[in-house]
Amino acid sequence: MIINTELEYKGNLYPSRIIDFKKEVDSAFFYTDNDVILKITIVRDSLLRFRYTTKGYFSPDFSYAIDENHSRGYNHFEVVEEPDFYHVKTSKLDCHVSKADLRTAIFDLKGNAVLEDELGFHWEEIYEYGGNIVKMSKVSKDGENFYGLGDKATHLNLKGKRLENWATDQYAYHKDQEPLYKAVPFYIGLNGKDAYGIFFDNTFRSFFDFCHERRNVSSFWADGGEMNYYFFYGPSMHDVVAAYTDLTGKPELPPLWALGYHQCKWSYYPESKVKEITSRFRELRIPCDAIYLDIDYMEGFRCFTWNKNFFPDPKRMVAELAEDGFKTIVIIDPGIKIDKDYWVYNEGIANDYFCKRADGPYMKGKVWPGECNFPDYTNPAVREWWAGLFKELVGDIGVKGVWNDMNEPAVMEVPTKTFPLDVRHDYDGHPCSHRKAHNIYGTQMARATYEGVKRFSYPKRPFIITRSAYSGAQRYTSSWTGDNVATWEHLWIANVQVQRMSLSGMGFTGSDIGGFAEQPTGELYARWIQLGVFHPFCRTHSSGHHGEQEPWAFDDEVINVTRKFIELRYQLLPYLYTMFWQYIDESIPMLKPLVYFDQEDPQTHYRTDEFIFGNHILVCPILEPNAVGRRMYVPRGSWYNYWNNEIVQGGRESWIDVAFDQIPLFVKAGAVIPKYPVQQYVGELEFDELTLDVYYKEGKEESKVFEDAQDGYDYTKGRYSLRTFTTAGKGKELVLHQHKEGKFITPYNYFKINLIGLPFKVTAVEVDNEEVSLEELKFNIHNTLTVNKDFSELHIKGI
Ligand code: GLC
Repeated sequence: MIINTELEYKGNLYPSRIIDFKKEVDSAFFYTDNDVILKITIVRDSLLRFRYTTKGYFSPDFSYAIDENHSRGYNHFEVVEEPDFYHVKTSKLDCHVSKADLRTAIFDLKGNAVLEDELGFHWEEIYEYGGNIVKMSKVSKDGENFYGLGDKATHLNLKGKRLENWATDQYAYHKDQEPLYKAVPFYIGLNGKDAYGIFFDNTFRSFFDFCHERRNVSSFWADGGEMNYYFFYGPSMHDVVAAYTDLTGKPELPPLWALGYHQCKWSYYPESKVKEITSRFRELRIPCDAIYLDIDYMEGFRCFTWNKNFFPDPKRMVAELAEDGFKTIVIIDPGIKIDKDYWVYNEGIANDYFCKRADGPYMKGKVWPGECNFPDYTNPAVREWWAGLFKELVGDIGVKGVWNDMNEPAVMEVPTKTFPLDVRHDYDGHPCSHRKAHNIYGTQMARATYEGVKRFSYPKRPFIITRSAYSGAQRYTSSWTGDNVATWEHLWIANVQVQRMSLSGMGFTGSDIGGFAEQPTGELYARWIQLGVFHPFCRTHSSGHHGEQEPWAFDDEVINVTRKFIELRYQLLPYLYTMFWQYIDESIPMLKPLVYFDQEDPQTHYRTDEFIFGNHILVCPILEPNAVGRRMYVPRGSWYNYWNNEIVQGGRESWIDVAFDQIPLFVKAGAVIPKYPVQQYVGELEFDELTLDVYYKEGKEESKVFEDAQDGYDYTKGRYSLRTFTTAGKGKELVLHQHKEGKFITPYNYFKINLIGLPFKVTAVEVDNEEVSLEELKFNIHNTLTVNKDFSELHIKGI
């Protein structure tokens, strides 16, 4: 290519003028004088894909992130030529493409600019590796705010920050440390009240700059690959997040037990220790569903082996734990020990499944077992082999979940903490170096693990957890936020990270409760549990080097707080399960930062601490020692203080008093909150009533309750129960309407309804238009009544 020097500025190259254009099916192609092609694809009316090449042709299109089942289709697509630019129009957007320099500007139908190129696409050639550093810069309007990007340990609002995506084993990271374990190159921009999103689907090391370098410029770039990004138009953050989540995919429902409490430590062994821990949970009556085995269950850290001194009969042990309601979850790392007497290693060598250096030899690196080779999970044959390795663990021994760690991939004792960059990968038939495959490696490992665990658990559902991830990993796995520290600052970080992951399509996430490194005080542990039970994934984990981190490692007060909050989580399981359903069915994030909940209220744009759990519960953790309360922002609307049912009007900052066994918790007026009885593990009890806490509101509110068999795949065939409750309060009346969908018959027969906040004294109740005596409804002074679950309308009247 001849470089036109006028198009070179500070080492960057720019597209020249457009000399041709073509419209084909769902795409418009623009060709410049210097061999740049821009391809704009209409995925949906409000979702455009921008793809650039500088070579005059496109390489084959391939992405691990995009879910092949994502929604597509649009109402309108036309290209209109003007003297200076082209319009690319859909029924929602008008994108201008400048003839002089290929810069784009996206407008809504009212003609407001949503996002305009600043320099737009530009690039730098890299002689050493070939290819380009691909760059994009956009105009950022005054007052614009930014959110998203996965696991970043920084303020929820990313304005003013520069961030890096390069999956890294970052032991004991600190606030603002970069980069971390995950690479999720998706962000949301919020201009005033209008939101848009960008997903830069490029797995190379990438960077995002949100007005850090230049005040009115946001930019992103990557060390190779294509400038290839998706633009999502809101204007609500909900639309942006839902469209991104739909594009990169949703998980299956987890088994309900996976939403219970999990206990972990590095490491519980031998068998007697594991049993001591699980029995103690039952003795102290602290609910728990899962127990983890960290690397010491293996023989010399060889994956898919057992240390028979510590675990002489794993199958028996796993069965005995299951009898007591405990699901066993084991860790599996990517590093396969180089050992000629080890079958997994031998199979890997025999089939040529391990990653190789550019010049041919297998890549070698140290992890827990010493020198290892590493499977190339970007090769479908390797994934298939890996999936098969779970036959014994899952199919025979009965392990219920697998924990994938060290998959950034992490390598010890080397400055880069990972593979050399020349390592080769198959990349599903698009061979490349580690520069391109690094960020996706962990996701492909988790994917292979998911396929294996699912195969051998079927017809039950698998449970997978991963440390590293790229966009789309949520289709296969849950995740945790890596090796945090037992400090108050890390409690703040955990709160931000899990909210951010939720906004980034990867909601099934939690932190190591209590902190992985170092030792929490009882107070810190209790405050962490109080937050952790409101995270979709809820597990205590610690390095175990500094002492114990089971609830009973602390005093009775802490044990009681722990029990109280874990019990609350177990009561809220149907609520949590319903929010999971809404996440996978409607792409609604499970945790909603306040800015997502009410983007029109500028007070929410910089809030970090408070979030909405599901649709109706406002949670605000206590993040400081010795707290007797805290200031917080209660978003607009009416809310009930969960602890005393007092009403608070939102839209302002308030001081909220709390005791040590409380955190500020509020329920949105009008909500119907379903509750199960406290169980020590999911499925322990059979019960004949579902509790519904109904919070009175003057006006209407909708709530849903999703249930099914709690495991298995029948729900995909319509065997679920989805109840939609609508409350309508008016003066001295409350109407509760129920609409039911789905073929699953819930095992209980009654609802126990707690009417909260009624501004009147109940005198009569009509069930489906017939008055039923209050005695028959077991109505009592607490405004509680019991009614058959099949009603359509409950009409509560009073004076
Ligand atoms: C890594 C993991 C941690 C695990 C440890 C030992 O540090 O992040 O969770 O306990 O390795 O396997």
